[in-house]
Amino acid sequence: MMTHMSTTSDPSAVDRYPFTRAAKRPPLVVATEGIELILDDGRRVIDAAGGAVVTNIGHGRHEVADAVASAMRTIDYVVPTWATPHRVALVERLADRWLPDGFDHVYFAGGGSEATDTAVRVARSYHLARGDERRYKVLARIPSYHGATVTTLAIGGHMARRAGLDPLLAEWPKVPWNDAGALATAIEAAGPDTVAAFMAEPVIGASAGALVADDDYWQQIMEVCRHYGILFIADEVMTGFGRTGRTWGHQHDPVQPDILVSAKGLGGGYVPMSMVSASNHVLDTISEAGGSVMFFTYSGPDAMCAGALAVLDIMEREGLVARAAEMGDYLQSSLRAALGDHQRVSEVRGRGLMVGVELAGVSAVTAVDACVERGMWVYPAGSGPAVADALLFAPPLTVAADEIDRIVAITVDALDAV
Ligand SMILES: Cc1ncc(COP(=O)(O)O)c(C=O)c1O
Repeated sequence: MMTHMSTTSDPSAVDRYPFTRAAKRPPLVVATEGIELILDDGRRVIDAAGGAVVTNIGHGRHEVADAVASAMRTIDYVVPTWATPHRVALVERLADRWLPDGFDHVYFAGGGSEATDTAVRVARSYHLARGDERRYKVLARIPSYHGATVTTLAIGGHMARRAGLDPLLAEWPKVPWNDAGALATAIEAAGPDTVAAFMAEPVIGASAGALVADDDYWQQIMEVCRHYGILFIADEVMTGFGRTGRTWGHQHDPVQPDILVSAKGLGGGYVPMSMVSASNHVLDTISEAGGSVMFFTYSGPDAMCAGALAVLDIMEREGLVARAAEMGDYLQSSLRAALGDHQRVSEVRGRGLMVGVELAGVSAVTAVDACVERGMWVYPAGSGPAVADALLFAPPLTVAADEIDRIVAITVDALDAV
């Protein structure tokens, strides 16, 4: 039975929750179920973005909670360099069933930013191991989002989230998001023997609202990376674990990552888990030179690994990667049919259950507020100037057709009103 319980009797106590002053009191969610968030006043809100594109298996899966509780009753903290049963089992499961061929090792961290930041250390360690001490620069695209650490903000091209922090941020070269020739030019300008890696999202998420590059883009990017001997880091924090309708977002194109980063779908919103993997070539090169990658204190606690295993059990048992492809087609075609000619919409696009609606003449925040008033959460995306405002739809991969119909109807109603 579900308990709708708040730990505070005074709603104004919620005002104290925001870290910095907020324009209005945030909603108080007291329970989650299926594709819905349940508020303290009993209202139900459809979670059309799976929170922040996280909740791949849907809300309220008690078997994940049971797996975490059971593991934590047996083992609490063990230093990450030592093995525990669920750590070992999760590495084995990922290598056997989820990672690309030739990727046999996994590093765990708590969130996406820790993982992308670690990927930068892996790239640097690889070049150091080869005696290429000059290679350290990591290039990326505009727009892009690779995390909120000082290094990943500096690498990324989310101009709104970087604003004002510039003196702290190293000046890594940036390239336009859909132009492979520009990458070659930027590498030449930076000095090819100083470049360590190129980092990119297969489908651009938070900064752009599900932007997909042209068909020939990735083949050319691979050629540029190989030509200059730089590593390709696939940032699949958002696109990994089935979100785009394939296991990995890069598998829609002829892409071979050297380093693969993922997060959100691994823990499905139940456990804070992220991962970095790399080709055996990259890791063997580092290992043979005596290198290693320093862990975080919370790199893969046993109970969190147990939670991730339970999430992957559900993904596999229910065929949710294939379902993301099928329901994603339905979501995208429904949004296109309903909004293709809408005066507030300039484009509908995406892959699988990662669908963006680019807005015209209205801010993403205003549009999201109108959706929330009508009982639906969707993620406000965009970072200007390439894509200023977009709505990012990423419901749980378990979403049903009638639930998609409700999502589309609420979106139309909200955009009609703004
Ligand atoms: C592609 C990508 N990389 C990195 C991150 C950072 O992940 P986190 O917020 O878990 O630190 C995000 C978060 O949205 C992301 O979408």
